[in-house]
Amino acid sequence: MSAILEAFEAAHQGSRRLAARARRVFPSGVTHDIRAFLPWPIYVERAAGARKWDVDGNEYVDYIGGHGALLLGHQRPEVNDAIAEALTRGTHFGSSHDLEVAWGEQVLRMVPCAERVRFTSSGTEATMMALRLARAYTGRDRVVKLDEHFHGWHDLVVGRVAPDGAHPYAVGVPDGVYDWLTVVPSGDVEALRAALAPRDVAAVILEPTGAHWGTHPLQPAYLRTARELTATTGTLFVMDEVITGFRMAPGGASERYGVLPDLSTHAKILAGGMPGGCVAGREDIVALLELRADGSDWDERRRIAHQGTYNANPVAAAAGVAALQLIAGGAETARAAAAAARLVRALNALFAERGVDGSAWAVSSMWHLNLGTGAPRPSDIEWDAAVEPAGVAAPLVRPLKWALFNHGVDLMGTGGMVSSAHGDADIDRTVEAFAAAVGDLRSEGLLQ
Ligand SMILES: Cc1ncc(COP(=O)(O)O)c(C=O)c1O
Repeated sequence: MSAILEAFEAAHQGSRRLAARARRVFPSGVTHDIRAFLPWPIYVERAAGARKWDVDGNEYVDYIGGHGALLLGHQRPEVNDAIAEALTRGTHFGSSHDLEVAWGEQVLRMVPCAERVRFTSSGTEATMMALRLARAYTGRDRVVKLDEHFHGWHDLVVGRVAPDGAHPYAVGVPDGVYDWLTVVPSGDVEALRAALAPRDVAAVILEPTGAHWGTHPLQPAYLRTARELTATTGTLFVMDEVITGFRMAPGGASERYGVLPDLSTHAKILAGGMPGGCVAGREDIVALLELRADGSDWDERRRIAHQGTYNANPVAAAAGVAALQLIAGGAETARAAAAAARLVRALNALFAERGVDGSAWAVSSMWHLNLGTGAPRPSDIEWDAAVEPAGVAAPLVRPLKWALFNHGVDLMGTGGMVSSAHGDADIDRTVEAFAAAVGDLRSEGLLQ
């Protein structure tokens, strides 16, 4: 057996026992596809700041950050205090409450396109609602999404992974659903222009930094073109800011790139580490959710009904208000981006110095990795090479992650989310872990 894997297994026996129990409870033993891992996932006991500790007592610099929800790191005191305070009042009133108003007002202040907002319980629900709003508003059924862009797991957006893909990503979605979905290659302006030309598209939805939070980068110029093309064809433009919102800037990618969508969708950071999402955008579109009780056929036939037991849950609202108030000033997003820039520069210097076929790049506080794929290095932080980043060679993905676990780093996919709690010591430790991991991979002949 590989020495890297042997070390992983030896250090994670408590996780192994929990994974064995979990496999008798959950499909593949997990509660989210991305948490599945071989030989077994790590089981985490607690987290603070930029670190987390597993049940075997191993410590990690954490780059998952609650799947991107924790721009402020784990257990930020102001957010924890707000949650504790909310708990003294109750976890669910089944009624309107003050915190949801404050939370919504904060979203209106921060999100550039937000004239009105509606809370949901997740990002998946937010994109589902945005697309329903777009269809209701335009009277058109077709939706355009970009190849590989992720918008949650509801029927329409799981669509097909490729425009001409033979197989749907999720078996169990009726074929007919795809009749109303057009998938265009990401970044291809002419393909988008052609898809919108018949003027039968309700909405274009995309991840503003590119598929999978920028693993496949999208040029900001494409966003501006998409904005123009949607406007001239009567199509709504939906920016899915579930990851980028409140991270790239207090007003997300929309603020950072100066592109104003008709609707944007949010979750993760929005709710300060608790479950929650929202659709924000133009008042005349979000107004389709209004109840009018005016004796007309509006309520019964022309509006969109929307329920949801946990919409604007008071504990999530408390966490959301506290987190967004901290983020509004801009220092937290800047600190996280600066830490990511430092990490990217240090990793590229390490790879160059050791002659490793690897490179790192970042957009704001989201960073990614190429390894063993002959990819070039960016000139500084953001991906600016003429070719697409090639990512981590498939046979290296798991050994790299085992090795990094062994040396105290937990990646998200093959990159990570940096928080404002990541300090110099966390970045230094990560670079040391990479240096050690590269040595391990080389000693097993996996990397040149
Ligand atoms: C861009 C994007 N949209 C939507 C979602 C779905 O959000 P949720 O997991 O809260 O349902 C995600 C989740 O990672 C996402 O990254």
